[in-house]
Amino acid sequence: MATATTTPEPWFLSGNYAPVPDELTETDLEVTGEVPPELSGVYIRNTPNPKDGKGDHWFFGDGMVHGVRLEGGKAAWYRNRWVQTTKLERGLGAMDPEAMMDRTASAANTHVIGHAGKILTLEEGSFPYEISGELETKGCLDYGGKLQTAFTAHPKLCHETQELHFFGYGQLPPYLTYHVLDASGDLVHSAEITVPGPTMMHDFMITRDHAIFMDLPVTFDLEKAMKGDIPIGWDESYGARIGIMPRFGTNDDIRWFEVDPCYVFHPLNAYFDGSKVVCDVGHHEYMWRDSMDDFAPSYMHRWEFDLESGAVGSNRLDDVSHGFPRVDERVIGLKHRYGWAVGSRPDGSEREGMDAASVVMRYDMQTGGSTYHDFGPTAQAGEFVFVPRSDAAAEDDGYAMGYVYEQSTDSSTLVILDGANPSDTPVATVKMPRRVPHGFHGSWIGD
Ligand SMILES: [Fe+2]
Repeated sequence: MATATTTPEPWFLSGNYAPVPDELTETDLEVTGEVPPELSGVYIRNTPNPKDGKGDHWFFGDGMVHGVRLEGGKAAWYRNRWVQTTKLERGLGAMDPEAMMDRTASAANTHVIGHAGKILTLEEGSFPYEISGELETKGCLDYGGKLQTAFTAHPKLCHETQELHFFGYGQLPPYLTYHVLDASGDLVHSAEITVPGPTMMHDFMITRDHAIFMDLPVTFDLEKAMKGDIPIGWDESYGARIGIMPRFGTNDDIRWFEVDPCYVFHPLNAYFDGSKVVCDVGHHEYMWRDSMDDFAPSYMHRWEFDLESGAVGSNRLDDVSHGFPRVDERVIGLKHRYGWAVGSRPDGSEREGMDAASVVMRYDMQTGGSTYHDFGPTAQAGEFVFVPRSDAAAEDDGYAMGYVYEQSTDSSTLVILDGANPSDTPVATVKMPRRVPHGFHGSWIGD
């Protein structure tokens, strides 16, 4: 008699990384504590959720947005919806040539942002997909045919000008293009930037005056892609450089600074201080050397690029590994005092998978200290975003919110922390009708 054998599921299809099978709508959610009455809007987070329950890597699953509407001191509803892209409709895999060539074939699984009255779901190889405030897909955006490249999942919104600065990278030339949407959402600037080859450029930075690109040694290998293998990996021989140019600049304006080989998925923020561009980033010593499971943890790190002397400063700021660094959106490109991230436990025990963590931390760059909210050893928090109490509120006067999964009960909550006192008992904990799988990034979309 044949013996049945089972292959263990990879980590990204197990536990709370596993996808959920359907879409729910639940109203009038149970709350412990008080939803602050000044919060009126929807918190939406994006998550890879393969419709067929399978996949080659966490990064490739079909995008599903999970949203909670807060208004009048209540948690009015929870909804989760797949983003209805052409990739989902046609059932394409991430390595499918049809998906790689068609920019509408987005996984739409990485981030969700608000800009110019629209809510955009983003995945870095494709065009954005717009969704409604109730998470229904409205359609793919190509800006009147003007957008000719992919659209990063990490654009930067300038709070002062409401311009959205972003870039697109490609595995074929042009490898890198810088773009700007104006405050009304029109594509008003596109400039090709020369880099030595195709790299995975996940994120970038702005200051009030500059756009900043990270050309780091996670490179694409087209031969591997043609064979259907995962085409991305560490290549230290590529070198590592940071390009700084004026906002709305072109390739003629960029200045490259060499740094030690490393990878940065996510910067915290950047700003211009005297003659220096200061970049606080989540710095990995290496990324994907032997496989996509072979990566170094990220630590908060400060680069300082002196535009007068050409000197580069490079210093680790702490010894607690973290994921998902975020600042108050109002200070993007400006000097920040605080930063939010999920962190490893203070006892140094390892985080599970890439980013889930049981601690949410608030960095204080002025004092150099950190404040923690510890959800307990069996809790796994995703990204937390800061929401100011009002537009004029101080940088810590508001709330930090995100989904927290509790392993012992296989359930999730939306947790709202006091921005000034994050260690305190949460201001509110909203019970989700079902676990919310671990995912990537989200935003508070205020009314
Ligand atoms: Fe990201």
